[in-house]
Amino acid sequence: MGQQTVLVLDFGGQYKELIARRVREQHVHSFILPGDTPIERIREIDPIGIIFTGGPSSVYGEGSPDVDGEIFRLGIPVLGICYGMQLMCHKLGGEVTQCSVSEYGVTDAELVVDDSPLFAGLDRAQTVLMSHTDYVSRPPEGFRVTSRTAHCPASSMENAERKLYGVQFHPEVVHSVHGKEILHNFLFGVCGAVGDYDMRGYIARQIELVREQVGEKRVILGLSGGVDSSVCAALLARALPGQVTAIFVDHGMMRKNEGDEIEQAFRGRELRFVRADASERFLSKLAGVTEPEQKRKIIGAEFVAVFRDEAEKIGGAEFLAQGTIYPDVIESGGGSAATIKSHHNVGGLPKDNGFDGVVEPLRGLFKDEVRAVGRELGLPEYLVERQPFPGPGLAVRIIGEITREKLEILRNADAIVREEIGKLEHRPSQYFAALTNMRAVGVMGDGRTYDYAVAVRAVDTDDFMTAKFSMLPLEALAKISRRITNEVAGVNRVLYDISDKPPATVEFE
Ligand code: XMP
Repeated sequence: MGQQTVLVLDFGGQYKELIARRVREQHVHSFILPGDTPIERIREIDPIGIIFTGGPSSVYGEGSPDVDGEIFRLGIPVLGICYGMQLMCHKLGGEVTQCSVSEYGVTDAELVVDDSPLFAGLDRAQTVLMSHTDYVSRPPEGFRVTSRTAHCPASSMENAERKLYGVQFHPEVVHSVHGKEILHNFLFGVCGAVGDYDMRGYIARQIELVREQVGEKRVILGLSGGVDSSVCAALLARALPGQVTAIFVDHGMMRKNEGDEIEQAFRGRELRFVRADASERFLSKLAGVTEPEQKRKIIGAEFVAVFRDEAEKIGGAEFLAQGTIYPDVIESGGGSAATIKSHHNVGGLPKDNGFDGVVEPLRGLFKDEVRAVGRELGLPEYLVERQPFPGPGLAVRIIGEITREKLEILRNADAIVREEIGKLEHRPSQYFAALTNMRAVGVMGDGRTYDYAVAVRAVDTDDFMTAKFSMLPLEALAKISRRITNEVAGVNRVLYDISDKPPATVEFE
């Protein structure tokens, strides 16, 4: 028997990824498809359960997301969340009432039955997160209300015989205190999940698939040292020993010791590791360039050129591997076609890229799962837990012209920033040093200095689309400042960047 799957059908909910992750955390495989996925496709997938996400629409709204009513006759358990519950109610002949005010926030719910499979083992009093305007005012025939809140006469409903369940609240968020148990009850109690999804199994399946796809042919991969490309390389080294070449383009704008660390991590694995020291090439192209976008373009173009040259040197390869992960796939429409991220380090290869195919063994994984696979494959913790680092490297953290001297100053200051912030109990999502182009007067011993000002940047964010600067403890900032001004020649001032995104960005350029 194949692996069990729970299908998440998306009706525009902001929590769709979270729902799939919560299911996977309970060792049940799950993935997301649009709410209007044809019923034949769902039959083919043959999920053990289906979860409808929430969404901002009203079932009465024009063009609001709909679902084929046949889905309720497949005999597959369905859990409708928020809009998903309203849609289930509406399709099955119950009544949804449009409300003028929204209920939003953490609320007390009371179970009104004590034999609901969804709430098995839970107390009558529940704390849940509500976020809705419409509500179910009359459940469809054959359904019963299983809980209510002060403002919502049916905060959940069920037809246990048909295995159809609805919850108005969001069990996937931590604010719903027993949300995890509720999902567990649905998965294991209602759907008959066995918990057959884990990273060891994922690795084993991918090894099989990749071997089938590539056969005896050769694979080439651009290794940036980031989490995704590193884990991809380690997985392919295991799947295709001796057939993989990983090209690490060292553009000279990596962080302190980074190139050596990456080389070290891949030494001894069953792949050919090529470290292309191209710093001279990059720096001469960047000489005198100060405009941020121009810097990025030069680096992007040079990246592709170096990668091509190195690929040629080793006599090419039939397949290109990429560390695309599941959120990239969802973002780009979730289609089945292979998508190449334009900002990927290989530089957005054109369709007729000369390869027989693209190998993307991490396509099915969320970031935390990629890290787990990395650990399982024995990659060192500093690679697996690495914070995001932009493709153009330190170039986007140096304002003005890039020179070897400035790179050296920034590398040393950045190493101190990362070391000190890394010791804090609360670690920001991303933290680093940037080199401003500002020089200021200072004093050292008896002499006057005229040196650079380093900026410390630390942000907290969930998605990097918006970010808040971190409220770092002043003592930590003081220590960073003293260490940088003492240990890094050429710096006499340290500034802390207290800008949010927007209006700033995380990086400086
Ligand atoms: P910004 O500066 O746009 O950064 O607020 C948001 C996040 O994206 C990272 N970043 C990049 N990552 N190639 C990358 O792979 C790039 O060119 C690039 N530019 C920014 C940045 O580090 C932050 O995490």
